[in-house]
Amino acid sequence: MKASFFTILPREDHILILDQRLLPGKKHYLRVRTYRDAHDAIRDMAVRGAPAIGVTAAFGLWLAARAARTKDRRTYKAELERAGRYLVSSRPTAHNLPWAIRRMLRVAKAEQSSPLSITERLYTEALHIFHEDIEANKRMGDLGAKLIPDGATVLTHCNAGTLATAGYGTALGVLRSAKSAGKRLKVFVDETRPFLQGARLTAWELNEDGFDVTLITDSMAGWMMKQDLIDACIVGADRIALNGDVANKIGTYSVAVLARVHSIPFYVAAPSSTFDAGISSGRDIVIEERAHKEVITLSDRVIAPAGIKVRNPAFDVTPATYITAIITEKGIIHAPYARAIRGLLKQTT
Ligand code: MRU
Repeated sequence: MKASFFTILPREDHILILDQRLLPGKKHYLRVRTYRDAHDAIRDMAVRGAPAIGVTAAFGLWLAARAARTKDRRTYKAELERAGRYLVSSRPTAHNLPWAIRRMLRVAKAEQSSPLSITERLYTEALHIFHEDIEANKRMGDLGAKLIPDGATVLTHCNAGTLATAGYGTALGVLRSAKSAGKRLKVFVDETRPFLQGARLTAWELNEDGFDVTLITDSMAGWMMKQDLIDACIVGADRIALNGDVANKIGTYSVAVLARVHSIPFYVAAPSSTFDAGISSGRDIVIEERAHKEVITLSDRVIAPAGIKVRNPAFDVTPATYITAIITEKGIIHAPYARAIRGLLKQTT
């Protein structure tokens, strides 16, 4: 299965990003030349999905380094720190973003050479983050595929595919690996209101890959489960706390509760870069609140009365107790998650 598109493509002095806001209608690549471009691409959702955001931010820091490489060492390092803070401020929930920036800044701090050669080293590090993400997804795919029975119909929410990562996908990577292993699968895709990542992105990329895809609105998931049409649920994650609570796209919590009520396994697939060792539970996860316009419009048409009160949290937190297993590149973990997650984060490879 070779994708007919790429999410992020590193070039010599910039990166190309597929503008996901225009999908599925148009494949247009944005040229990201500065760290400010990278920040805006993340903030404005041209690139989205936790791992893809992290990779974009890593290259964003390299672009900041390129712009500052002729300055003296102190100014150079101060500018990197400032650019790092600015990139991290683009969106608050995905852990992969601060994780990638911390990793890049650690490299910059450890290097004693000239700004010019640190900049080269930062490009190599961003490339490592990019390739490691694809490798992690393939590994998760191989491990997770075993959980998906032949002939299963699997429900997914939001987009945790190639478009959300450097390539292959987390939750959709598991489905890709299961399909490659010869399993016959059907995939039900929640449309994922209000930004429609399911309808616009997941349905599109799975369809391109020849999957048997059925699109449903979010409110239909429970009824599909009630009729025994769903055998498993699988989603990605934006941030996972030490106790296994998972922040993911708004609506994930509802799917998990419904899955529990109907005795359907609910799986999360996420690389170790999504785990936040600094928070003990999901209560500490900052949930992004997005523009009200996303809720009161549909294809730019206003669908609600003028002046109506609106809420638009972009993510929710699924308590660990609803999660059957978390698939990572380092292994599949089950409850009790706290011990398993600590062990996982200690492993180096
Ligand atoms: O707002 P988005 O589109 O960035 O939200 C994305 C999700 O919630 C994904 O499920 C998550 O980032 C995992 S992607 C592998």
